[in-house]
Amino acid sequence: MKPSLFLCIFFLVFSSCSIKNEKAIQPQIIPIPYSQKILSGNFILSKETTIIGDLALKNVTNYLNSFITTNFNIKPSAKEAKNSIHLLIDTAIENEEEYHLSIRNNKILIKAKTAKGAFYGVQTLLQLIPVTVTSKNIPIQCIEIKDKPQFSYRGMHLDVGRHLFSVVFIKKYIDILSKLKINTFHWHLTEDQGWRIEIKRYPKLQEIAAYRKETLIGHYNEQPHKFDGKKYGGYYSQEEIKEVVKYASDRFIDIIPEIEMPGHSQAAIAAYPELGCTGDSVKVATKWGVFKEIYCPKETTFTFLENVIDEVVELFPSKYIHIGGDEAPKTNWKNCNHCQKLIKNKNLKDEHGLQSHFISRMEKYINKKGKQIIGWDEILEGGLAPNATVMSWRGTKGAIEAAKQKHTVILTPMSHCYFDHYQSENEEEPLAIGGYLPLKKVYSFNPIPEELNEEEAKYVLGAQGNIWTEYMKTSDKVEYMAFPRIIALAEATWSKPALKDYTDFKHRLIHFQKRLDALHIKYANHLYEIEGKIIPVENNINYQLTCNTKGKQIHYTTDNSEPTSNSSIYSLPIPVKESTIIKAASFDGSKKISTIHIAKINKHNAIGKTITLSKPPHKSYNAGGKQALINGVSGSSKRYGDKEWLGFWGDDITITIDLGTPLEIHSIATRFYNANGQWIYAPKNIEITLDNNSSIKEIMNTETVSNNLIVNYKKEFNNKKAQFITLTIPNYGVIPEGKQGSGNKAWTFIDEIIVN
Ligand code: ACM
Ligand code: ZN
Repeated sequence: MKPSLFLCIFFLVFSSCSIKNEKAIQPQIIPIPYSQKILSGNFILSKETTIIGDLALKNVTNYLNSFITTNFNIKPSAKEAKNSIHLLIDTAIENEEEYHLSIRNNKILIKAKTAKGAFYGVQTLLQLIPVTVTSKNIPIQCIEIKDKPQFSYRGMHLDVGRHLFSVVFIKKYIDILSKLKINTFHWHLTEDQGWRIEIKRYPKLQEIAAYRKETLIGHYNEQPHKFDGKKYGGYYSQEEIKEVVKYASDRFIDIIPEIEMPGHSQAAIAAYPELGCTGDSVKVATKWGVFKEIYCPKETTFTFLENVIDEVVELFPSKYIHIGGDEAPKTNWKNCNHCQKLIKNKNLKDEHGLQSHFISRMEKYINKKGKQIIGWDEILEGGLAPNATVMSWRGTKGAIEAAKQKHTVILTPMSHCYFDHYQSENEEEPLAIGGYLPLKKVYSFNPIPEELNEEEAKYVLGAQGNIWTEYMKTSDKVEYMAFPRIIALAEATWSKPALKDYTDFKHRLIHFQKRLDALHIKYANHLYEIEGKIIPVENNINYQLTCNTKGKQIHYTTDNSEPTSNSSIYSLPIPVKESTIIKAASFDGSKKISTIHIAKINKHNAIGKTITLSKPPHKSYNAGGKQALINGVSGSSKRYGDKEWLGFWGDDITITIDLGTPLEIHSIATRFYNANGQWIYAPKNIEITLDNNSSIKEIMNTETVSNNLIVNYKKEFNNKKAQFITLTIPNYGVIPEGKQGSGNKAWTFIDEIIVN
């Protein structure tokens, strides 16, 4: 045998042995690609692989090379090699962010029109390599992928005003966004509670506006307010910002800075009181909310803001500057001579017209600098600035209006994109602002409102998740709130709707969690949480438990004890004969892998009966449907966004329950949510009618209950016989001046209606 042939056979035997040890992973790519076809065979990545890129793709090629070297301790060969990875520019590809990835036994080919597209091809390739490898010969599944995004704007926001995060963390955040093909980081840099960007011309922004005396402890809804007594603050120097911008640009992430105006500017006014209407000295805010200290539209203010913008545009290459525009109470403008004169002189309708004038004037300046503005949807009020892009956050109404006016829009509705809301119904969740936005709901998000026709839908650039950090003191908490919801949004904005499948996504996510572990991201895991549902059955009810992830077991108890792997195994809905507490958890063998689901079932006379509502609940707060009001299960005492509370925005409501036959009624009770910071108000009065004749009008004094998060309502009826129960619940009305959301209609949230 010739030595060379011997060597060859030896190498084949040796290498196939090592291939056996390490198996190629099955593709579990997030976001799911536009098209993918698995082929037979593997490509072996080793030190005998060479990476070759077009000159225009030098940075991407270097990124891939250094990733492989750092993460797998494999140094790709510089020249002569057994196999190769090629990165090529292909001008025939249409979409700027598209890539084609072909993996064959001896060659990996990534083709794209731009470096950005090639970078996304590389990210997909890296998801085809296991997180941890044990061999220096890594098999990669042969596959053919053609991929491109559904939306051109795929964003994530971070509020650094309420809490500040290190440059190291900002980079970590940007890095993971880029791996998910998110292309925009919206950096919310100025707030009432702190100004976070160095502006050299205005040193007091650094000395005064960047620091607050102390910070609110606990939730805003907990009264009286308590403070920690500790000075808090800091800011990013211009050098740090340049470093972050460069880091992001290497990962094809555009950073949009937000400089809030005219509202959320109390910190700036604390530093320079002449920017406000009164000139009075104010403090950097120490609690959360909306403040009446807003910029006064006088020449000195515009000079200040223009000088700020001059420095901002030098730092950020982005096409867009976000100018805020949200939540600016007009109280001070109403009492200001200058503001009132300006309204008259400019022939403006009112203070909203003045806000529009303010924004349009700043837009003109920013446009002259070659940039476009984005503003929150309040910039629609009083007339939209001519070239503005709208960020729709108070639902999708702003997006619909703006698109119909032929303005580009970005969807960030609270209902699907506010990752500061709770993600689990579990009462043990860490403190959050409120609401309820589970992973599944984020995943289900379709950024195009159904009210738009095809032509109007073209104005939808995409969507963004928002992270407001009032209740996130640490970067660990930001990660917990952000992940995995960011991952669901990444797929909802990149992948075409026809490919979306939540069950499949969850399985890919379980795999992706290993990648998050490797990146030391402290994500939340509610994948194995149990969902419960009341099932009415002839004169009785059953309680159904589900855990949607395959292969796990549910164990439960009905004696108020904690479930263990020795507790009853759930297989069929549990019959509920009397008021019961069911506790259940998911198990993998003997290991509990979920939090404990607790269902307090209160058997009463209206369960499963017929209920009619004069108005449907708002579609964002209707998870349980109308039957949730009479299913025996009350809503959370801490959250209004679960399946049990129903939310109505601005509507007066009439609810009728038909008991099927006349029954003796002892009492009727229900609860209203009352979180004024979230625009939720208990009604001022409610009226109950039995069989349309005995009208009982109950006045609730909202003054006395305004500090209670839950307002209880109960009426005794001394066993009066009736078949029909009607509750008339007028909406609270418009939110008063000085309160959060003032001028908007209040929400009404109602819980279980308990009929005994
Ligand atoms: C916002 O959440 N105030 C835009
Ligand atoms: Zn003024």
